[in-house]
Formats: sequence, structure tokens, C-alpha cells
Amino acid sequence: MSERLEDIAIAMVANGKGILAADESSGTIKKRFDSINVTSTEDVRRDYREMLFRADDAMKNYISGVILYDETLRQNARDGTTLVDLIKSNGSIAGIKVDAGAKPLAGFADETITEGLDGLRERLNEYHNLGARFAKWRGVVAISDVLPTWGALRQNAQALARYAALCQEAGIVPIVEPEILMDGVPGDHSIERCYEVTDWVLKTVFNELYDANVKLEGIILKPNMVIDGKNARKASVEQVAELTVRALKSNVPAAVPGIAFLSGGQSDVEATAHLSAMNAGYDMPWNLTYSYGRALQAAALKAWGGKEENVPAAQAAFTHRARMNSLAAKGEWTEAQEKSA
Ligand code: 13P
Repeated sequence: MSERLEDIAIAMVANGKGILAADESSGTIKKRFDSINVTSTEDVRRDYREMLFRADDAMKNYISGVILYDETLRQNARDGTTLVDLIKSNGSIAGIKVDAGAKPLAGFADETITEGLDGLRERLNEYHNLGARFAKWRGVVAISDVLPTWGALRQNAQALARYAALCQEAGIVPIVEPEILMDGVPGDHSIERCYEVTDWVLKTVFNELYDANVKLEGIILKPNMVIDGKNARKASVEQVAELTVRALKSNVPAAVPGIAFLSGGQSDVEATAHLSAMNAGYDMPWNLTYSYGRALQAAALKAWGGKEENVPAAQAAFTHRARMNSLAAKGEWTEAQEKSA
């Protein structure tokens, strides 16, 4: 596999494939396990992720890359193979979440700043040695009638740009993720408000990437879709697709090879339907695909329930979701395909 940033980025979004976000921090994966009454230990976290990475059909055909958490990047499968080698053996690329999480931003009530820039150059070099070829950094943008503030937005965009430049220096493709929260507080914003904020966020982020000398050919953008808040959901699939494509076309240069959405709290089928509507209905200069966490894993997590005997059922659930999203990445998903499972 080529080591050029451009080639890695293209591979991450090619051929109806997308990215599995399995980079939940220890705190977040504990919350996911709590929902199925499973205690989160290092071995159980390994077993759960190994189960996903051993779903060969899904991994070979529908998953171009996997975002890992620091712990997972260093873990071995039960048989001693590194999880990174397991991912590679299925033709997929290992990636790493490198941000240290969103923390309250001093001076700004209700907004956060993502930490993790100090020492990042050294960490990226280590991650490259461990086999990672792309990274992820998530900047979080609160949304309401009065949020985000310009100050908080700009500081998060600057952090994303500094991260992206450091990644490229290390031979690692940065996934640039500015996430406008769909499921934050109050979560009652309209789709029009989400459009307005998404447009502003993308403009700000691309200005900062330009000022930071980031090569756009060697990044992947991971945005939210333009969608109304979790407590106000009513926009149709067509509306979400239309406004999302409009916001992207107004702001994302054609030099960017691919856009891989986060699911952000949408149901798994919603996230698939929205992606498919965009790919089916619009001509775009970039490949548009998925980088889903919850929308790829929710059904598998539930089917698994922490029990060894449920592994085949959980792998089947994951494979189905991955296949549906692969169809969506080609604009070919239908409800009939969904029900064929
Ligand atoms: P969700 O698809 O669950 O939003 O997670 C994707 C992700 O990586 C968020 O940072």
C-alpha cells in the first residue's frame, strides 16, 4: 500500500467502502457496555472489538479503515496477533483517535475546547510506528439560538488545523471532524439553524486549514449532516440530503478526496437513508461515505450482549449494517434491501 497521503485518503473513501469508528474512549465504551449490562474491563473491550474486526465479510468488503483508541492500537487478539495486523489482514487501514477529549472552555459557558496538541508530534510518530496511517480529532460545536460563539468556534478550528498539519508531517492522514451536536443541550434547533451553523463552521475550518498550510488532498472531512436537533426531529430524508449537500458544496474544495459523515445520534437506518439519498440524488466532486460509530455498532452491540455464544449473531448484525451503508455510499440503498436481512 502506498504511503502517500493522497493515496491513503483515497483508499479510505473508495469503492463504496467507509470507516468504522471504534475509537470510543474508556469512558464512552463503558457507557455503551452499561446499556447491555456488561462490565467494561480491558479484556472485554478487546473481545468486543476483536469480534468486529473478525467479521471478515464486513471488513473485507465494506470497511476501508478502523479508528482505534490508544488502548486498542496496542492490544493483541486472543491468539496473540496484534489487532492492527488483524485489521490489515482484512485489507483495511488502522487509524487512531489522537484528541484528548472536549473539555470546558475557560471563559465560555456551555462550550468546549478539544485538548491534545501538546506532545502530539511525538505521539503521532509513535502511532505511525505502531501501524496507524490516519488519525481523528473531534472538535465539538454547541448549537442553540445563541451558540456557537465566534470565539469558541475559532479556537476549535485552529486546534483542528494545527492537528491536521502535525498529522501530515508524520505521514498520517488527518480526519478533520468538526461536529455540531445533534444530541446536545437543548437539542431543539431547526434544520435551518443547523444549516446556518454548519455553513459557518465549515467556512471557519477551511480558512484555518488554509492558514495552517494543510494539503487538502491529504485530509478526510468528517462532518455532521445538516439535520434538526434530537428533540425536534421532523425534517425529511430529502431535506437533510439537500441541505447537507448544499452546505458541503458551498464550502468544501474539490481537492478534498472524501467526506465521511459521523452518525451523531441518528438511528442506524436514518444514517444510512440520508447518506444514500445524497449519493443517489446529487453530483459531487468528492466521495461521500460513512465514518459511523453508533450507527455501525448499535445492532451488533445489542445482539452480542457480552456473551460468547452470541458472537456469530453480532457479527451478522454488524455485517448487515456495513453492507447497507456500503450500498448507501453508492446511492443504491433501498428499504427492500434493508428488510432482506
Ligand atoms: P458516531 O457515528 O457514533 O457519532 O461516532 C463517530 C465518531 O467517531 C464521533 O467522533
